[in-house]
Amino acid sequence: MEPRIRAIADHLAGELFADGSPADLVERYARTLPLSVICELLGLPLSDRPKFIAWANTVARLTSVIGVLRMIRGLSQMKRYLEDRLRVAREHGGEGLIAELVRVEMEGGRISANEMVSMIFLLLGAGSETTTHLISGSVYELIENPTLRDWLEEDWSRAGLAVEEFLRFVSPVQFSKPRFVRRDIELDGVQLKRGDRIMAMVAAANMDPQANEHPEQLDLQRRPNRHISFGTGIHFCLGHQLARIEGMCALQALFTRWPRLRLAVAPAQIRWRKRPGLRSIEKLPVVEGS
Ligand code: HEM
Repeated sequence: MEPRIRAIADHLAGELFADGSPADLVERYARTLPLSVICELLGLPLSDRPKFIAWANTVARLTSVIGVLRMIRGLSQMKRYLEDRLRVAREHGGEGLIAELVRVEMEGGRISANEMVSMIFLLLGAGSETTTHLISGSVYELIENPTLRDWLEEDWSRAGLAVEEFLRFVSPVQFSKPRFVRRDIELDGVQLKRGDRIMAMVAAANMDPQANEHPEQLDLQRRPNRHISFGTGIHFCLGHQLARIEGMCALQALFTRWPRLRLAVAPAQIRWRKRPGLRSIEKLPVVEGS
């Protein structure tokens, strides 16, 4: 999917200031790119994309009671829409994950319609806001660190290495989902009992000096980079390669199109969301720069 992802990123970068400047990079770029990629992955018609993105955004922008009501409406509209896409795929086949899943379903009857709809919601939940904040966090750091930005712009084949460090440094997913302790164990002086519920602090592990020297430094050339931003073990992130490619394409497309991009406000005014779990920048107002 890399060429398509690159094309989507180029297009969105081109449209960044289409509705005026400053533009909120989170809203107009970092959020729209992963959502567009998921639409593409699912094989949704291009003309449906704005509608789908608007529904998905009602979930991402959840900040008030009215927001919750909007989200519930958005979710049920999305569910109906996906069920309809499933019907179309069943009748006419097609491209993309929905059509592929229908083919699997026809072969073995193993996936129910409910399972398919919930899997699509899972992909949206796991694969959009996470990547959004890998992108927004990386852009913020690059705008704040012109030397690193120059180093990257000099040779975009360095983007893979850089994204690995952004994954570590930004740690978009801050902790794992809950786990249950299987047997009594002592971990670093903490006594855990069988059945206890724990969560692994991914962000803390990524800042462990025993794993990476000077973890507090953003070092785009860090190698090896021993981060666990995609988790580890049986639940290791399903979308890790997709997220990496999206991160690389996003940075290259953005800074190629807007080489002098800068913040429209003082860095101290940038706010991170207080909701735990994701390290997410609320708004990132940017201007073209001169
Ligand atoms: C920068 C972007 C991303 C980050 C930082 C990230 C991080 C993670 C982490 C830490 C886990 C493991 C959670 C745990 O063990 O409790 C995970 C699981 C998962 N991720 Fe990602 N993810 C990203 C992007 C994506 C994308 C793009 C997709 C798919 C489109 C995706 C799909 C999933 C799924 C389905 C799981 C669950 C796997 C399982 O439980 O077996 N993720 N991700």
